[in-house]
Amino acid sequence: MCGIVAYIGRRQATPILLEGLKRLEYRGYDSAGIAILNEGLHVLRTIGRVQVLEELVEKAGGLAGTIGMAHTRWATHGTVTDRNAHPHMDDARLGHGIVIIHNGIIENYSALKQYLIEKGHAFCSETDTEVLAHLIGELYHGDLETAVQSALREVTGAYAIAVMCKEEPDTLVVARKGSPLMVGVGNGEYVVASDASAIVSHTTQAFTLADYTVAKLTRNSFRTTTIDNIPTTAEIRELEFDLAQIELGDFDHFMLKEIFEQPRALRTCLQGRVDVRSSNIVLGGIGDHARTLANVKRIVMIGQGTALHACMVGSYLMEELAKVVTDYDFASEFRYRNPIVDFGTAVIAVSQSGETADTLAALQEAKQRGALSLGVVNVVGSSISRETDAGVYLRVGPEIGVASTKAFLGQVMVMAMLSVYIGRRRYLSTDFVSGFLRELEAIPTKIERVLESSALIKTATARYIDRENWLFLGRGVNYPVALEGALKLKEISYIHAEGMPAAEMKHGPIALIDKGMPVVFVATKNSQYEKVLSNIEEVRARGGAVIAVATEGDDHVRTLADDVFYVPDVPELLQPLVTVVPLQLLAYHAAVMRGKDVDKPRNLAKSVTVE
Ligand code: M6R
Repeated sequence: MCGIVAYIGRRQATPILLEGLKRLEYRGYDSAGIAILNEGLHVLRTIGRVQVLEELVEKAGGLAGTIGMAHTRWATHGTVTDRNAHPHMDDARLGHGIVIIHNGIIENYSALKQYLIEKGHAFCSETDTEVLAHLIGELYHGDLETAVQSALREVTGAYAIAVMCKEEPDTLVVARKGSPLMVGVGNGEYVVASDASAIVSHTTQAFTLADYTVAKLTRNSFRTTTIDNIPTTAEIRELEFDLAQIELGDFDHFMLKEIFEQPRALRTCLQGRVDVRSSNIVLGGIGDHARTLANVKRIVMIGQGTALHACMVGSYLMEELAKVVTDYDFASEFRYRNPIVDFGTAVIAVSQSGETADTLAALQEAKQRGALSLGVVNVVGSSISRETDAGVYLRVGPEIGVASTKAFLGQVMVMAMLSVYIGRRRYLSTDFVSGFLRELEAIPTKIERVLESSALIKTATARYIDRENWLFLGRGVNYPVALEGALKLKEISYIHAEGMPAAEMKHGPIALIDKGMPVVFVATKNSQYEKVLSNIEEVRARGGAVIAVATEGDDHVRTLADDVFYVPDVPELLQPLVTVVPLQLLAYHAAVMRGKDVDKPRNLAKSVTVE
């Protein structure tokens, strides 16, 4: 939610900031703004995309200066207006030329605002961020770092901030609690950003700020302290980031690129972890907890959106392979329903970004109650990965498209490995495991076969493109795939779609079916195949149009369905890894045909760092 980038060094800041904002635009794109300090403070803000800001900067004749900050917003407090766009400043009459950008939410902003109003402050925007700017201004007595520390001691909520002050034109102060922030360390320069994508083209040396930490950056040095001014040590590490991973290349959209990257991403996810010959799974990140996991009484998987769908698939895998009672829950619901968690429980937080606020908060709650906490996360060094006792990274590379695709496959693949890892220590025979691992290794090649049907899926999608209501149905392990298919379609093409267990249709939703309504069935060969065929008949009998995802060689389905997307045969438990792919492609083609902004759907942002 919101991307922030800031620069101090010897080069011109504006091009670095605008390039960084473009890389971070996936985090929010309601409005954008920039501030440069150069013999005074120069601020430009606008609703709309970064490109609109870029045009504004050009119209203003460019902004010269070697220290500055920029922001791309996903609105939380205050509507989408120029005034609510960041950067925000302190009170022009009372203040010191404080300027701030912020990602997160200041929860006690109302009380602070009231206090500041009583002190004579007047506010221009409806945002919580402006309150923080004024508070820093109020507490400023000639030292920006001290003022920021003092202000942050008064604040509850989440923040990643960058702050400058007209009276200290050679200092940039940044701080973090709960929202991501990274400092890239160059030669006589620092690039601060919400994530590495805005840093890597300038430097590969960086450190992540820990919660409640403030960094004071000048051109020649930096220091980090807690908000109580206790010095801390920043651990500078090499960023492992390939720029090509965040470039579009020959693809029209990141979503399509990421769908097509899935075979390679899964090979990387599996690499070095699967040893068929010794029937072993090697997961270094959880090695210290192998014995605890082997004796765990209960597992709870938590996530939101697509990550929750991966948890649902994971619960089937875990119960079947590891024979551990496994529940899944929306992290947001889990946290607030006084969950029963004890020392025999392991909680697995699943998240691509590792920054989802609900998932992070639920994880903290579970830890407090004594659970072993594991992370299944993509972004290395993210908040969730740092908060968990141990974890397994997805290793699928950066996911830029707001619609999650390759991360879902990575999450399911990790769940499969984790289930075998635990199962192997409980009941699974070596024979079973080596056969299963062989199947796991074959998945990427099978996905390549599915990707070959992209053109066919596009043609079929065109036939239903004017329909405003879709159903997605599946059973067993393919029920979460139905949910995922519906989520993909609605989030990028704004078509109303519902996913549900195929049997549930008869309990109400069947009333929706009229002539030509598209109903997508995951109807692959598995233990529930016959039942799904009966559900298909029920839809056909009411005039619905049936689109089936079926197993290669199944000619019978062709006689029942209007369109069939074939996938290779894989063991039932692993079917989601192939059945979801045609649904991703369907959603993608539908969104393109409807002229929607596939990678930046309206109202959404890539990582939801507010509850
Ligand atoms: O970064 P996370 O995996 O924690 O994100 C969770 C959801 O916000 C995310 O999966 C969301 O539902 C996607 N837009 C779905 O495509």
